[in-house]
Amino acid sequence: MVVPTDHALHEGLQVSPLILSDDVRRQKIENHLAKMRFSAATARKIQDVFISEMNKGIHQQPSSLQMENTYIPELLDGTEGGLFLALDLGGTNFRVLLLELANGAPIRQEVKRYYIGPELRVGSAVPLFDYLAKCVSDFVIAQGLQDVELPLGFTFSFPTIQHSLDVGVLVTWTKTFNCSDAVNKDVVLLLHEALDRRGDTKVKVVAILNDTTGTLVQGSTLDSDTAVGLILGTGSNACYLENADRVEHWEPERHGERQVIIDIEWGAFGDNGVLDFIKTDFDRENDANSLIVNSFTFEKYIGGKYLGEVVRVILARLTKEGLLFVGENTSQNLLTPGTLTTDLVSHIEQDSVDGGDTNTKEILAKFGIIPDQDDIKVVQYVCEVVSNRAALLVSICLASLLDRIDREQVTIAVDGSLYKHHPRLENWMKQYISLLTPGRKFKLIHAEDGSGKGAALVAAIAQRIKKRLE
Ligand code: GLC
Repeated sequence: MVVPTDHALHEGLQVSPLILSDDVRRQKIENHLAKMRFSAATARKIQDVFISEMNKGIHQQPSSLQMENTYIPELLDGTEGGLFLALDLGGTNFRVLLLELANGAPIRQEVKRYYIGPELRVGSAVPLFDYLAKCVSDFVIAQGLQDVELPLGFTFSFPTIQHSLDVGVLVTWTKTFNCSDAVNKDVVLLLHEALDRRGDTKVKVVAILNDTTGTLVQGSTLDSDTAVGLILGTGSNACYLENADRVEHWEPERHGERQVIIDIEWGAFGDNGVLDFIKTDFDRENDANSLIVNSFTFEKYIGGKYLGEVVRVILARLTKEGLLFVGENTSQNLLTPGTLTTDLVSHIEQDSVDGGDTNTKEILAKFGIIPDQDDIKVVQYVCEVVSNRAALLVSICLASLLDRIDREQVTIAVDGSLYKHHPRLENWMKQYISLLTPGRKFKLIHAEDGSGKGAALVAAIAQRIKKRLE
């Protein structure tokens, strides 16, 4: 392996300079954001902490990284066939999907999206799971499959403790959900109970997984070097193919597995304080405004649910300090939590890519603000710094994973709304991963709909393994 030169890393970490007509103002703004722009030494320190937390997690020692065994020990082998269902809960969309496979490859796919209102997201668990079961049975009945035994892969994109491939106990809700009475319960059982209450289909949940796992498995159908699944969406997390002998938490009997997918759950990285050295006042405020405070520290630096809010918190602070939008009426909207969503950050970032200001002006107009040229530069700079920090943090973790996997070539399968819509993340990530682990060959591929299709593929793998063991 090539020894990384931190000089190159240092150079690579520079973002576009902020140039304003008033230099004192520029200096003050840069000072506010200085802690969000990491030096090469800070990047390395984060990397060391991540590696150490991964090692502790896999050895079942206290760690903010769960390193959960998914019990998925193999990928598709080309023999899978039949009809498989998937349920995808956790991100922007909730979906039910039917996949028909022949020789391990999809030959037909039917998908339906459903809306889950805010009252179901934060209420009690029973109405939520009853609604999920209703959607499944509506879908299955519409397909005329109510009398067919259908194996289902349940993508449940929240941290669970997995006791086996089809038992997952919810650790905590994250992102936009908080039905607290489901915590510490097996969500597969909750779904089965809801399906049984209806009794109008023959659906059987054969695997629970998270969206990163679905993305890895889906990615492996596109590129056989895939060994990492990454989600950059509402939340963020990754999983990877680990050498099975390194994994201590393994409840069911082992059957000679050589590898297994590990769900890192990196959204919670730093919940035990190990990352406090990068936390800024802006992050504290973002956390305080979130649905579940003091949890999912890392996700709050990178997830699509939060980037817009971090930008808003910074812009509000600069405004209050008289460094931005001087003379504009910003008392409404911009000072209210949750008003600046991450898709708007992506649009503003697009202006930076194009060297323009159309999107920035349009977005600020919606906030009732008519910016001057310097205001525009500051807003674009803040969006860049916040987005760039997210890209770097994700890259630090990915570079560490590539080192850990230590294969000649690794493909990282990525999905998620943030990755898809942000115009700069992908390029920054390619650049930073190369700088952090020079000489490693890797590729980023977009595994579209990994959390949906991947779940049906995992159900097929689960069925195959089950049959072999019977
Ligand atoms: C949250 C969940 C995790 C999921 C990620 C991306 O971090 O805990 O399981 O993979 O969001 O959706």
